[in-house]
Amino acid sequence: MTNLVPLRRHFHSIYGAEPRLFSAPGRVNLVGDHTDYNDGFVLPIAIERRTLVAAAQRADRSVHVQSTRFPTKRQFELDRPGPRRQNGWLDYVEGMAQSLQARGVELTGADLLIDSDVPTGAGLSSSAALEMAVGLALCSLAGDEKLSRVELAVAGQTAEHDYVGTMCGIMDQLIAALGQSDHALMIDCRTLEATPVPFARPGAVVLVCDTKVKRELASSEYNRRRAECQEGVRALQEVLPHVRALRDVSLPELEAHAARLSETVRKRCFHVVTENERTLAAARALSEDDLAELGRLMVASHRSLQVDYEVSCPELDLCVEIATAEPGVYGARMTGGGFGGCTVNLVAEEAVASLSEALSREVERRFGTRPDIFTTRASSGVKEHL
Ligand code: GLA
Repeated sequence: MTNLVPLRRHFHSIYGAEPRLFSAPGRVNLVGDHTDYNDGFVLPIAIERRTLVAAAQRADRSVHVQSTRFPTKRQFELDRPGPRRQNGWLDYVEGMAQSLQARGVELTGADLLIDSDVPTGAGLSSSAALEMAVGLALCSLAGDEKLSRVELAVAGQTAEHDYVGTMCGIMDQLIAALGQSDHALMIDCRTLEATPVPFARPGAVVLVCDTKVKRELASSEYNRRRAECQEGVRALQEVLPHVRALRDVSLPELEAHAARLSETVRKRCFHVVTENERTLAAARALSEDDLAELGRLMVASHRSLQVDYEVSCPELDLCVEIATAEPGVYGARMTGGGFGGCTVNLVAEEAVASLSEALSREVERRFGTRPDIFTTRASSGVKEHL
């Protein structure tokens, strides 16, 4: 994570005041993708890369924002919401402020300086990290602690839906809000209950491979998948009235009624139903220290996302092929929304160097780009640095 001292100094040089410091992590998901908006299960960890917000109160009702990455100072007024969807990082900040106010948090004006080592557009949830860090900063400056961490996460999701225009699920905000060091979180996205599962194995490492690929169709295809799942729910409800979401459908039920679904919708539903089972099984495997089984479930999850949900891409598939052929790798899969971004690998410590080398070499040879590869432990959720 970025050093705090230079950020304090930088803040002082811009705003002439001493800031308070807040941060929230990016995330990788071990298993359970495209399940959150189907009321299902996810098993993410918070990563060590974080977004930092240095913040101080202002006497007026303005919020001034600057980023160390984009040094133009921007500002907005708490009482006059600016236009939505300007397609910039400021949308997340202003969206979060509006979303908090809509929940009755009485915000004060603020000076903010943002710094981050979570890459943007890499599928590591840089936006949720920004929302959670800004959200906690604004609530704390205002001395208003009424929102729980879960409510903060929901406020972030609302900011994305209403202000930014991304119809995301709740996984990214929840793990950025609730992440725990050395634990994965098993999250039930219907009840929003998060159960920590110890995840610090001597000798086993999480290695993230950022392909640096970002497909333009990611967000339109994401919305299309959501609609296909809804179509599946509607068709299945005709014969299974208890079904509120795909979470409520068992595999035997899906198989029995598959003929009611188009080929595409059947495949999407098949992914979600089996992915929920894999996620529950993965949490069990992790708590029993069965890394071989966890790894097997990760690879099965990738295949399902690739073949049935069709959200992978050649670069991600190549990274998984390379990893699964490498000795000492328990499992590998794409992580997050797909169409580019990262793979997550669970690797024996002694295999980290050879896997990293094989991934760099082969991705560059086949696609001409150099992936960014790093290891991470499970880290903590949003917090103030006191
Ligand atoms: C994106 C969304 C999440 C989730 C994942 C896929 O990261 O923001 O809510 O749907 O894709 O699991």
